[in-house]
Amino acid sequence: MTKDLYDIIIVPDPVLKETAQPVAQIDDALRAQMDRMLATMYDAPGIGLAANQVGLLNRVLVMDVAQREGENSRKPVCMVNPEVIWTSEEPSVMEEGCLSIPGQYAQVQRPKSVRVKYLNYDGEMEEAEFEDLASHCVQHEIDHLNGVLFIDYLSSLKRNMLLRKLQKAQKESQIL
Ligand code: NI
Repeated sequence: MTKDLYDIIIVPDPVLKETAQPVAQIDDALRAQMDRMLATMYDAPGIGLAANQVGLLNRVLVMDVAQREGENSRKPVCMVNPEVIWTSEEPSVMEEGCLSIPGQYAQVQRPKSVRVKYLNYDGEMEEAEFEDLASHCVQHEIDHLNGVLFIDYLSSLKRNMLLRKLQKAQKESQIL
């Protein structure tokens, strides 16, 4: 049923610029939020989704890059209170997009690898290392929890061009 999905919030909604607050307790309500965020992400479809993007300001993100990396099965990852504890000096440049900035893409430079500490779906502390696409994805989603969007890394000229293109596309889709 569609009620199991969140509406994804689109720029320039101010909730996307807010800092999400740490989660104090992982309970059934929070697991229901993670399930619903995953369902929303897969439906979009996307490879990552942060709480801000569904109007919630707790530090929760979900991601799954497995199929984008050519694997056959889903590998959902849920993170609560994620923290980057190490980044590689080696950078990586990849094209990024965002479900909150639909249809717009740009090259973003980030550390090629990161190590992240977080609480998993069951509330256990985990540490994991991410590389390339997964590294971009987890950093992009943690940025969301800090009110940062990938377009914030672009020059204002490029950012405004991209936002105007989005506005134009939205207007056109309203006419149709
Ligand atoms: Ni995003």
